[in-house]
Amino acid sequence: MKRLALISLGLALGLTAPISQAQEYVIKFSHVVAATAPKGRAADLFAAKVNEKLKGKVRVEVYPNSQLYNDDKVMEAMRLSSSKTTGILAAPSLSKFVKLSSNLQAFDIPFLFDNMDDVHKLVDSPLVEKMTKPMESKGVKALTFWDNGMKVFSVKGDKPLRAVPDDFKGKKFRIQSSDVHEAMIRAMGGTPQKLPFKEVYTALGQGVVDGQENTWSNIYSKKFHEVQDYISVSNHGYLGYLLVVSSDFWNGLPEDIRNELTAILKEVTVEGRKFAAEADHEDRVAVEKAGFAKVVELTSAERKQWKAANASLEKQFASEIGEDLLKDIHKLLGN
Ligand code: SIN
Repeated sequence: MKRLALISLGLALGLTAPISQAQEYVIKFSHVVAATAPKGRAADLFAAKVNEKLKGKVRVEVYPNSQLYNDDKVMEAMRLSSSKTTGILAAPSLSKFVKLSSNLQAFDIPFLFDNMDDVHKLVDSPLVEKMTKPMESKGVKALTFWDNGMKVFSVKGDKPLRAVPDDFKGKKFRIQSSDVHEAMIRAMGGTPQKLPFKEVYTALGQGVVDGQENTWSNIYSKKFHEVQDYISVSNHGYLGYLLVVSSDFWNGLPEDIRNELTAILKEVTVEGRKFAAEADHEDRVAVEKAGFAKVVELTSAERKQWKAANASLEKQFASEIGEDLLKDIHKLLGN
């Protein structure tokens, strides 16, 4: 009787959920790019589908532009969170996972992939399970891979980046928190500087760094081209994402909800590839049309020079990535 009276009072004050009301799970999806970028669009599509199909059971809130966390902080927050009802979901770029799985550094090896078809061969193969496995013991569940695209190099100065190492010498380049990228910039003759994504525009504008490497959609949506003089179409490496969530939260979800979320993610991954391919083309056109940075193609001789400069990197990181894994990747890609 006393318990009933307390519950009624709680209900009247809005403090207690009605006993019959099912648990609503909340997923906070934190990312660092613009909502218009491929990852932003895929995150919004995921939220829209979940919020419609699982209404009352799961609610997804999306936080773009590093509003909630930057990529390093989100991993930390995810690993520290023990909530079974509110989960943090993130999709950091593959270059930011070294602390969770050194295997994933394979994605950072310059010139490993000739194009997005090569990337998809790897991402759609069973090899990626091997690459994400080490995360499980660290409390992080890998869900799916999302695309962005191939990277190009931009720079401020009186000439574009063409000759290696001459055009890189004396220049500082912003990189993500990847040791492979650090070695790559050094191999090309430049000076690397690791910086969070949200600091890149200001760092370029204020001359803290002279250049950076990124995809067309990140360059355009964050206006990097407005503070750079040249963009060299190098397509030297891939930028993609791994969707991750805290294992405690994920494993604690009812099985039917987990299955629904997995199915929705599968659909969104397919759509996300289309968003990325569209942006890759459209944002390049938009950058060229804007007329701030001049876009230059590398000649095949120049590209050969860039490749040669980076040829020793794979060996340098082979023991961290795994010799056998690298062999398997080459076999898969036929290179
Ligand atoms: C992202 O696409 O999530 C950011 C990549 C970067 O840090 O350059």
